[in-house]
Amino acid sequence: MDLFRTKKLSDILADSEKPEYKLKRSLNAFDLTTLGVGAIIGAGIFAMTGTAAAGSSEYLGAGPALVISFILTGIACGFAALCYAEIASMIPIAGSAYTYSYASLGELVAWIIGWDLILEYAVGNIAVAISWAGYFQELLGGFGIHLPWYLLTDFRTALSQPGLIQTAPHIFGVPIVFNLFAVLIVGLITYILVIGIRESATFNSVMVVIKIVILLFFIGIGIFFIKPSNWTPFAPNGWKGIQTGAAIVFFAYIGFDAVSTAAEETKNPAKTLPIGMIASLVISTVLYIAVALVLTGLVPYTKLATAEPLSLALHIIHLDWAAGIVAFGAVIATTAVLLVFQMGQPRIFFSMSRDGLLPPSFSKVHPKYRTPHVTTILTGVFVAFFAAIANISEAAELTNIGTLFAFVLVCAGVLILRVKEPDAKRGFRTPFVPAVPILGILFCVYLMLGLPTITWLRFFIWLAVGLIIYFSYGRWHSRLLTADDKSAVLKEGEAK
Ligand code: ALA
Repeated sequence: MDLFRTKKLSDILADSEKPEYKLKRSLNAFDLTTLGVGAIIGAGIFAMTGTAAAGSSEYLGAGPALVISFILTGIACGFAALCYAEIASMIPIAGSAYTYSYASLGELVAWIIGWDLILEYAVGNIAVAISWAGYFQELLGGFGIHLPWYLLTDFRTALSQPGLIQTAPHIFGVPIVFNLFAVLIVGLITYILVIGIRESATFNSVMVVIKIVILLFFIGIGIFFIKPSNWTPFAPNGWKGIQTGAAIVFFAYIGFDAVSTAAEETKNPAKTLPIGMIASLVISTVLYIAVALVLTGLVPYTKLATAEPLSLALHIIHLDWAAGIVAFGAVIATTAVLLVFQMGQPRIFFSMSRDGLLPPSFSKVHPKYRTPHVTTILTGVFVAFFAAIANISEAAELTNIGTLFAFVLVCAGVLILRVKEPDAKRGFRTPFVPAVPILGILFCVYLMLGLPTITWLRFFIWLAVGLIIYFSYGRWHSRLLTADDKSAVLKEGEAK
C-alpha cells in the first residue's frame, strides 16, 4: 500500500459538499480578520515577551533587541502566511495544513501534520489557559479575592519550592494541587463552541476590539515614560539572544493560520481567507513592534523576567491603575485566543475522521447546532486536563516547534502543488514563487533551531506516538484504500 497516496483535489472539495458533513457558511472577510486577531494577540505578547527579553535559566534573552526578534518572526510568518493564503484559497477545507498536505505530500505526511497540529491547537491552548488563569487571579487579587495557592499552580512548579507541597490538602495521601481557573475557563469555552459558531464569532469580535484598544493604551501611555538609556546595551546576547527571543515570541504570532480552519463556514473562501489571514497578521505585527519598543524602553530588560511583563513595567513606573487595566486586557485577549483554538482543533479532527484516519464518530455534526460536538468536547477534556497539571513554558515551546514544522510543510506544499496541480483554480497566488516558499522554510527552520534541545526531544516523541497510531489505525481505515487493498487487509487479518 502506498504511504504517499494523495487525495485528489476534486475529491477533497466534493467531500465537503456532502450534506452529512456540511457546516453552516456564515463568516465574511471582516469576521475572519477578527477571528485571526482573536487567535493571534494573547499569551504571547502579554506573558512571554518578558522572558524572551530577559532570558531564563534555560536560555539567553534578546534584551531591548526584542524588537528585532519580533520583526524576524513577523517576516517568517509573513512568508508562511503568503503560502497559507494560496493553499487555503485553493483548498478551502476545515482541515487546514492537514488537508493541504494530503493533496500535495501524501497520506503519511498528512497524518504527521494532522497529529502535529494538535501541538499547535490543543497544546497551545494548554499554555494559553494557564496564562489566562494567572492573569485572572491577578485581577481578582485587585478586589481582595485570593484562591488558595494549591488551586493556582501545577504540581511540578509547587515541588520546586521546598516544603510547599506538604501544606496542600491530601486525599488518600495524594497532595491536591492543580490549576482550577484554567479548567473552568476551558469548560466554559467548550460549552460556547458546542452551541454554535455564529454566536462565538460575535463574542470574539467584542474581545478583539478590547484587546487592540488595551495594547494601544499601553503604547499610548508608555511612550511618555520611555528612557532611551534602557535601550543600551541593545543586544546584550548578540544574535543568539535575538534568535532565541524570536523562537519564543513566535507563540505571539500563532493564529493567523487558524483562520483557515473556518474555511467551510466561510462565504466565498477563496477570496476571504487570504484577506483574513494577511490582514490579521499585519495588524498584530505592527502592534507587537510598538509594544516591544515601549516595553524595553520603560524599564531595564533584566527586570522583565516575569509572566506579566506589561503590567509589571507599569507598576515599576508607578502607574498601578494602568497595570490593572492591562491585566484586564490580558484576560480578555487570552479568552479570545482560547476560543479560536478550541474551535480549530475539532475541525482538524473532523477532517481527519472524514478521511478515515480517525474513527467516524469524530466527524459527527450536531443535528441541531451543526457543530462538530464530539471532537469539541474531546478537545475540551484534553486541554482542561493538561492545563490543570502542566507548566506554561514547556507547553508553549512544544507548541512553537510543532507549529513551525507545520509552516515548513505548508511552504513546501505550495512548491509541490505548483508542479502537480498547475492549473487548479487559485483565489490567491503566492508572489515570487519559488523564492517566498523557500525563504519561509529557511526562516521557520532557523526559528526551530532557537528552541531548547528538550523541546526537540519531546517533539520527536510526540511524532513517534503519532506514527504508531497511524500504522495501527489510520493506514487500515483510510478512505483512499482501494478494493484490492481492503481484501489484502482482510486476508492479513485472517492469516493472524
Ligand atoms: N498567538 C497566541 C497567543 O499569543 C497563541 O496567545
